[in-house]
Amino acid sequence: MAGSPVGDSRFILPSPLARELAETYQTPLYVIDERHFRERIRRTRSAAGSVWPGAEISFAAKANSTLAVLSIAVQEGCLIDAASEGELRAALLAGAEPSRCHLHGNNKTSAEIEYAMEVGVGSIVVDNFDELNRIFTLAQSHRCPDLLLRLAPGVDPITHEKISTGQADTKFGFNIVNGAAGRAVRVATGLSLPLVGFHCHVGSQLMDAEAQKSGAEVLARFVVDMWRDQGFVAKALNVGGGLGIRYTDADDPVSIEDYYREVSGAVAGAIREYGFELKLIHEPGRSLVGESGVTLYRIGTVKTVPVTEDLNRTYVCVDGGLADNPRPALYGAKYTVLHIPDRTKQMGEAKEQAVPGMARGEFDTTYTISGRHCETDTLFRDILLPDDVEEGDLVQVLCTGAYNASMASNYNRYPRPAAVLIREDGSHELVQRRETWEEMFAREILPGGRDE
Ligand SMILES: Cc1ncc(COP(=O)(O)O)c(C=O)c1O
Repeated sequence: MAGSPVGDSRFILPSPLARELAETYQTPLYVIDERHFRERIRRTRSAAGSVWPGAEISFAAKANSTLAVLSIAVQEGCLIDAASEGELRAALLAGAEPSRCHLHGNNKTSAEIEYAMEVGVGSIVVDNFDELNRIFTLAQSHRCPDLLLRLAPGVDPITHEKISTGQADTKFGFNIVNGAAGRAVRVATGLSLPLVGFHCHVGSQLMDAEAQKSGAEVLARFVVDMWRDQGFVAKALNVGGGLGIRYTDADDPVSIEDYYREVSGAVAGAIREYGFELKLIHEPGRSLVGESGVTLYRIGTVKTVPVTEDLNRTYVCVDGGLADNPRPALYGAKYTVLHIPDRTKQMGEAKEQAVPGMARGEFDTTYTISGRHCETDTLFRDILLPDDVEEGDLVQVLCTGAYNASMASNYNRYPRPAAVLIREDGSHELVQRRETWEEMFAREILPGGRDE
């Protein structure tokens, strides 16, 4: 991969290219490496397919729904998991076949469901009884796609509470433990709806396969139970996403190969006596695109403030923050930050790093990296950088390919960043323009009808 040091699975921009991109497209800037992303998809599809023939990988569009990213996922043979009409529209604009997309969401409106039916999605993942009713009503006048029931398997993953979804106390899906899931099967089949199987997603940024294995196993056992109790033959099982990535050296996720082997093995073990063919679908987002992206920021103010009598803290303020990466504020998410000195600095080429952050041995100061937004907007604490960081230098934040661009906002009226794709031949291409001031105000109407 362009720029990644040996042994590091993450995409890292070499300093010269980082400077060129920052000068060409300005900062903050999202950068995605096409080759890295394609390789992650290929490796994942191969790992899943080698342990479960015909297993499908569905790219969770919520991780990154930039059209360029979705189009690569489509070209690489992924299904697309859309969690809203907007994500579904993005998938279709990116070239996905409607029949290769499925619609998620815990509170889909009738309008969203109708849109999905009209464009001909492959399946809808049904979250609750109200939605089942809405689908039944719409199915009187539209072709109803295949349905999967989202189930809450009652598994508590060890991850941040805001990204754990599989426990019993959750807004997502039909509970297995209280019998709602079994009732939902009865209702769907009683209404002659095209129910084909089940879905669960236990949580995200999982370091091992344990929670996912338990969730998949519960789901697979439910398949067998429904066949025994109700004669219902499931044809598809979507066990969600969740595999974590190496945001920092403290994160040590199990390998892609081990993960898919273990999860598929759990399903196979649980359906041993089930004599019917079952399509297995996985729905990862973060583990496909997270490590393929970095964000470039330029350093502005560097200031040291007193914390206690004998402790100072130095803030390095960058030209982005909460609005382009809300994850530190949302989950206390940690990242790896690498310094890229300004090219005009008196460093001498010999001292220049081919790969920033590696082998300089000068990282002797701990900084707090702050964004420029209100709230505290502390992006990253305790980051080791050289002691000569200063205004004009760049930093790159690793592993921002997932849940950054897709979570960006205009908070404090900052335009959303541009996104650039590093092509497989090493060239770079703008795939999302920086938001303009006109775009920022285009939707607004002053009271009394004046629109400017
Ligand atoms: C239903 C569903 N599927 C898939 C995913 C993707 O998860 P991850 O990006 O952790 O692989 C999520 C993430 O929240 C989800 O809610």
